[in-house]
Amino acid sequence: MADERADAPAFGVYLHWPFCLSKCPYCDFNSHVRRAAIDEARFVRAFAAEIAATAARAPDRTVTSIFFGGGTPSLMQPATVGAILDAIARHWRVAADGEVTLEANPTSVEATRFRGYRAAGVNRVSLGVQALDDRVLAELGRLHSAREALDAVGVARSVFDRYSFDLIYARPQQTPQDWAAELNRALAEAGGHLSLYQLTIEPDTPFAALAAAGKLKIPDEDTARAFYDTTQDICAAHGLPAYEISNHARPGGECRHNLVYWRAQEYAGIGPGAHGRLDIAGARHATATEKRPEAWLARVETTGDGVVTDDVLTREEMADEFLLMGLRLAEGIDPARYAALMGRPLDATRIAALTEHGLVEMTAAGRLRVSMPGFPVLDAVVADLAA
Ligand SMILES: C[S@@+](CC[C@H](N)C(=O)[O-])C[C@H]1O[C@@H](n2cnc3c(N)ncnc32)[C@H](O)[C@@H]1O
Ligand code: SF4
Repeated sequence: MADERADAPAFGVYLHWPFCLSKCPYCDFNSHVRRAAIDEARFVRAFAAEIAATAARAPDRTVTSIFFGGGTPSLMQPATVGAILDAIARHWRVAADGEVTLEANPTSVEATRFRGYRAAGVNRVSLGVQALDDRVLAELGRLHSAREALDAVGVARSVFDRYSFDLIYARPQQTPQDWAAELNRALAEAGGHLSLYQLTIEPDTPFAALAAAGKLKIPDEDTARAFYDTTQDICAAHGLPAYEISNHARPGGECRHNLVYWRAQEYAGIGPGAHGRLDIAGARHATATEKRPEAWLARVETTGDGVVTDDVLTREEMADEFLLMGLRLAEGIDPARYAALMGRPLDATRIAALTEHGLVEMTAAGRLRVSMPGFPVLDAVVADLAA
C-alpha cells in the first residue's frame, strides 16, 4: 500500500441504483424490489440532472473514480450506464486512468451484460458472491448458485483487467475451519481484490428477527476473533493482505474509489439515498439525498436535485470522521492532518497507552495505524483516541 499516494488529489462520484430482484434477509442497504419494469430513461434524466446540479456546486474537479453501487447496478442496461457516464463527462473532467466500478450480482443474465458495460466505460466489476455453498446461498436468500457465481467471476476475469468479489463469513453454523476451506477455494478464483465481510445482524432485517428468536447462532467474541485471524493469515499468505479492515488486495489492486472515503477525500453522491462530501468555499458539506426511489425522482424532477441534507461539518466532526475512516486502513493516518483539522494534536498519552497494549503503532513514515490485534476492537480504539 503506497503511503505516498494517500495525499494525491482525488474526487469520486458515487451513483446509487436502488433496485434488486429480491431482498436478501441480512441486507439493510437502500434497495427495493419493484414488480413493474423500471423506467431507466427517466432515471437517466434524473441522474443527469443531479450530476449537473452537483457539478454547479462543485465545479472544476477531475474525477478520479466512479462507483455504481446498490442495490443491484447490474440490473441497469449498459446503455443506461453509458448515458450516466456521458453526463459525468459533460460536467467534470474525467482522469484518463479513472477507475469506473460497477457492483454486479452473479446471475448468468447479468454476466452476459459485462461486455456491454466495458464498452460503456466500466473498467472494474465487484461481484456479490457471498458464499460458495448452495445451501448457504439459499439461506442467504440469494438467487444464484455457487456454480453461477464462479462462472460470473470467470466472465468478469475475461472481460475486465480489474475485478473483485465479496464473501460473507462468520455465518450461522459456519466454523473457522469451514471458512478456511471456503476462503482457499475463493482465493484460487481471485484477481487483485477481495472484500470479506463478517456477517452483521442489521436491525429491522429478517435476520435480526431470527437472531432475536434464538434461531440464528452468532459467533461469540473468541470465535469471531478466530474467523478474523484465519482470514488475515490466509489472505496474506496468498499475497492479498488487508489494506482495510474488510478489504484485501494485491499491491496496486486496491479499490481507488473506496480509498476516497477512507482517506476522507471529496466525493459526490448521486441517486436515491446517496451520501456525498463536498468542499465548497473552504467548508466541508455532508450531503444526502432522498432515499425512496420514486420520491427522489419526483424531487429531482421538480427541484433539480434530490438533496435532503446538506450540513456543514464542524472541525471536530471532520477530525472524527478522518480518524474513524482512516484507521480502518492498514496505511493508517497522518497525525498532522488530524491536528490541522481539529486544531490540536491527538493525545500523546492515549497513543502511548494504546501502543503499550499493542493496539496501535507508529510507522517509520510517521503515520499512526491500528495494529493487527487492534482491528477486531477498532471501534473502541477510535473512541479512545477521539475522546
Ligand atoms: C451493496 S451490497 C451490493 C452487492 C450486490 N447487490 C450483491 O448483493 O451481490 C455490498 C456487499 O455488502 C455485503 N453485505 C450486505 N449486507 C451485509 C451484512 N448484513 N453483513 C455482512 N455483509 C453484508 C455483501 O457482501 C454485499 O455483496
Ligand atoms: S445484498 Fe445485494 S442483492 Fe441482496 S438485497 Fe442487498 S443490495 Fe440487493
